[in-house]
Amino acid sequence: MTDKTVRKPIRKAVFPVAGLGTRFLPATKAIPKEMLPIIDRPLIQYAVDEAREAGIEQMIFVTGRGKTSIVEHFDVAYELEATMRDRAKTLDVLEPTRLKPGNLVTVRQQVPLGLGHAIWCARGIVGDEPFAIFLPDELMIGEPGCMKQMVEAYNEVGGNLISVLEVPEDEVSSYGVIAPGKTLDIMGGALTEVTGLVEKPRREEAPSNLIISGRYILQPEVMRTLEGQEKGAGGEIQLTDAMAKMIGTQPFHAVTFAGRRFDCGSKIGFVEATLALALERPDMADEVRAMVKRLVG
Ligand code: G1P
Repeated sequence: MTDKTVRKPIRKAVFPVAGLGTRFLPATKAIPKEMLPIIDRPLIQYAVDEAREAGIEQMIFVTGRGKTSIVEHFDVAYELEATMRDRAKTLDVLEPTRLKPGNLVTVRQQVPLGLGHAIWCARGIVGDEPFAIFLPDELMIGEPGCMKQMVEAYNEVGGNLISVLEVPEDEVSSYGVIAPGKTLDIMGGALTEVTGLVEKPRREEAPSNLIISGRYILQPEVMRTLEGQEKGAGGEIQLTDAMAKMIGTQPFHAVTFAGRRFDCGSKIGFVEATLALALERPDMADEVRAMVKRLVG
């Protein structure tokens, strides 16, 4: 394949977390939706865990008003930790919330102008290197995780990568959709060229039923493209539109994630994720299974 030695490593990840979470009101009136827990971990924690597993060091949160608790979650909680120590409790449970000093960065998206705009707000921190993006609503569960699989693919082909999955045709209009090209003869056929991208197409205009599922590895040039990006679907500045302009100028591939995805932007997806993960946890699976049986009769 191509020369792997020239790839700049993916060290930074952007997490757009400025959204209002209106679908989960009233729960999200005073709490960011990214802090809603799936069992005992807030949603954002799953995304950060996935990033760390992929070797990413710096987490860049694009936040807005009322989102401070996300930042606090990844800070040292001095009083809590001192009290736990006094009570001889292990602090292991807090390990996932620890980032190296300097590796937690926040920027504010002052006006909600769309996903593309949110990403562009991080341009000064991303600088001139390729970076990852995580949409925390999309909970990706796999071994290895989705981003680790993408980094592996990036090491093969470089350029830009997005994770994709198939959805029923009547759902495509809620997502970014790809026009697939050739499938590559590596990684078990999980890598496909992307020849086009459309954000929230009408069903009859969608180029496929392969949707962008919330994980990206992008080259820094996307920031310059976003700079002049006009409004697209829903009157918002769309990341998909900026990426579409890059096709043909840089390699662009889709990675079909070998794993499971839960759409935690919806209530049903959230309940499904909670149940699915609870049924796999050794500390509760048996009890949860018995409970589900009892509940469904
Ligand atoms: C965003 C992206 C879309 C992607 C989706 C995944 O849409 O714009 O391309 O398919 O996330 O969840 P949103 O859900 O913000 O409308």
